[in-house]
Amino acid sequence: MARKKIVAGNWKMNLDRAAATALAAGVAARRGEVSAVHLVLCPPSVYIGTVGTALNLSGDTSPSGVWLGGQNMHDKASGAFTGEVAPGMLVDMGCRYVILGHSERRTLFGETDATVNAKTKAALAAGLVPIVCVGETLEEREAGNTQAVVTEQVRGSLAGLSPGELSQVVIAYEPVWAIGTGRVATPEQAQEVHALIRSLLGSMASPTVAADVTIQYGGSVKPDNAAVLAAQPDIDGALVGGASLKVDDFLGIAAAFNS
Ligand code: PGA
Repeated sequence: MARKKIVAGNWKMNLDRAAATALAAGVAARRGEVSAVHLVLCPPSVYIGTVGTALNLSGDTSPSGVWLGGQNMHDKASGAFTGEVAPGMLVDMGCRYVILGHSERRTLFGETDATVNAKTKAALAAGLVPIVCVGETLEEREAGNTQAVVTEQVRGSLAGLSPGELSQVVIAYEPVWAIGTGRVATPEQAQEVHALIRSLLGSMASPTVAADVTIQYGGSVKPDNAAVLAAQPDIDGALVGGASLKVDDFLGIAAAFNS
């Protein structure tokens, strides 16, 4: 089975309700241009319902072919966790995906590999596809520690998952120094880490499972640099921040993966 190409928009804490609706409707209207790519929109959690309506989501189907995802979630099903969102709530609102362990969650909100691991297990148990983010800082790269850091994050974030569970995970390699900086990794730098991640998955599950897992690149992906990234054998899509806020840019990136 060929692995899926997935391009996901991480809207972060941007847009208002009207702009979120317009962006989702704009992407859905032109979805047919990139029909070989799975498109996922990850709005701020308060706008998930609104965006779901704009995408015409109903139950487990998406007539528009554009899927909805959360940007984060708690690992518990319910309870006294003020301000948090449960996995089942995302499912209830039509989400199929959830971004976990984004570098902003790790650095600004103290998430560790153990936190991400608990959330990944909870997401899978709830029927969500986790998009698990990993990536080194500039300091770590310059010290020659990229491989060690990414290896520890992959092993820690995915610890204890069965081969069947690993086969359902999406991984996003996002070098921290490339996020929101305009400084994209070179295709060779990205490919090297993607190949490492795939070989780790091979040893954690099996080469067959590893071959099926979608590994996205993230960090300053734009329409004009997406094609060279998409040409790399182990880059299967993109997790897009800034450029996902414009229909043309988001679809321009998706077009690079549409083959
Ligand atoms: P960026 O963000 O595309 O704005 O660099 C990527 C991300 O944080 O997922």
